[in-house]
Amino acid sequence: MTPSFREALARLEAHRHAIAHRTLRALFAQDARRFETFSVRLDDLLFDFSKQPVTDVTIAHLTELAEAAGFEGKRARFLAGEPVNNTEGRAAMHMALRALHGGPLSIGGADMRAAIEAERAKCAAFAETLRAGRALGAGGRPIRNVVNIGIGGSDLGPAMATRALAPFATSGLVSRFVSNVDGADIADTLRGLDPGETLFVVSSKTFTTLETMTNARSARAWIVAALGEGAPSAHFAAVSTNLSACAAFGVPADRVFGFWDWVGGRYSMWSSIGLPLIIAIGPQHFADFLAGGQDVDAHFRDAPLDRNIPVLMALIGVWHRNVWGRATHAVIPYDQRLARFPAYLQQLDMESNGKSVTREGAPVAMATAPVVWGEPGTNGQHAFFQLLHQGTEVAPVDFLIAAEPIAADPHHHDLLVANCLAQSAALMTGRTQEEAAAALRAQGASEAEVARLAPHKTFPGDRPSSTLLYRRLDPRTLGRLVALYEHKVFTQAAIWDINAFDQWGVELGKELATRLQPIVASPTASTDALDGSTAGLVAARRALTAQR
Ligand code: F6P
Repeated sequence: MTPSFREALARLEAHRHAIAHRTLRALFAQDARRFETFSVRLDDLLFDFSKQPVTDVTIAHLTELAEAAGFEGKRARFLAGEPVNNTEGRAAMHMALRALHGGPLSIGGADMRAAIEAERAKCAAFAETLRAGRALGAGGRPIRNVVNIGIGGSDLGPAMATRALAPFATSGLVSRFVSNVDGADIADTLRGLDPGETLFVVSSKTFTTLETMTNARSARAWIVAALGEGAPSAHFAAVSTNLSACAAFGVPADRVFGFWDWVGGRYSMWSSIGLPLIIAIGPQHFADFLAGGQDVDAHFRDAPLDRNIPVLMALIGVWHRNVWGRATHAVIPYDQRLARFPAYLQQLDMESNGKSVTREGAPVAMATAPVVWGEPGTNGQHAFFQLLHQGTEVAPVDFLIAAEPIAADPHHHDLLVANCLAQSAALMTGRTQEEAAAALRAQGASEAEVARLAPHKTFPGDRPSSTLLYRRLDPRTLGRLVALYEHKVFTQAAIWDINAFDQWGVELGKELATRLQPIVASPTASTDALDGSTAGLVAARRALTAQR
């Protein structure tokens, strides 16, 4: 920590003590223009952070912290395609994939524009062939089902977006996603599908991932069993940076779609990894999605820090995480089609910033990524909102809501919006014990009942949230939402001085699983080298399976 960074953090600590007694209710009461001051618009998208415990001074101190962390220099290097992923010696240049217009795209000294556009055009042409019913299975019938096989960044983004943009998928093709090595996933996904009409897209940056390759082999066996040894080439496509492995798997070259090592897995849905989405919604809608990401890139690059939505999202997150000590962050889309958005964000945020060492390998001096979680509203209201309102943990919330529905009943949507706004208002306002008592008296409760029940009906309030309000959940809006969170994650990594673009933390479990697999598969292999708990679990499982 540089002295200036430490000083900026100390100023924030002191500031927290100075404003801790000022409730959100009081902040609104004192400032009739608070909503205008603490909200920012990007075209028809509004970021409202007026229900956060911030004042002008807070934002000033937070931007000073970002400056002390060298944020602007780090952002410049990131946007210039420099190798910011220092443990792997790579750029993290997913922004180049959505730079639809403009000049050269320099990454590692090479202009990538032509290569990016060629790969995008190849994906678009293949998608159009499928959407027009011109891609035929081995038996000569058109492909009707597209099953993506991938995991993590090769699944969550396309799966989330395909669901989010379902109203834009008008070709009649069926889209499904298989990720888990649990055989139930592929078995349940393939149930009811006709192999002769099914295409598998094997999506894997490395083309070595255990889950994906296991599922891909099972899918190939399913095709061969139904259609014969010569059939797979008509039923498989692949997306990867490992083109030779795709060829070795038997995918014809004209169905292999590439991308580059400077695209991180969890940032890859803008690349050929978006193929299942392109097939589902068509190349033009996908271009709109890319344009939404590009809108945010320009805003992130150009807007002053205190009017910069992803920077503000990041700074508010740092305020909660590092100064208020809040360990979790909830994302609640009031949008059923965004049901997988929290899961998508979990990988984006927690795999990027769940780190304990700085870029130089020293222990980080402060807390990094919170636990990100969430479910769509209104469902969450009937599940975990109790804790949000009255629990002992304070979890900052992001609410997401569209002004208008797409292909849904407007009356339902009014109810959805009312519930979303009501929840953020209730979290902020709360209900004092006196108000709870007054409400009980108004209902005719006796004084004894008032005394007994009022504590249970009291809400502390002052619980922070931000709201992202957008016109409707179309491809451009989704592109904006994803890019906003990507740049939020980058900004926090810059402040914490960690590398957001590697993921060494997933390696150990993979290594141990590889070593355990033969022991698990054998009824007799020695467990002596295992720790006591793992050996005990292997033995218990052997006992259970022996009873079959
Ligand atoms: O498990 C970690 C991870 O490497 C993720 O970062 C990645 O998105 C996922 O696995 C899938 O990797 P691949 O696309 O190489 O199959």
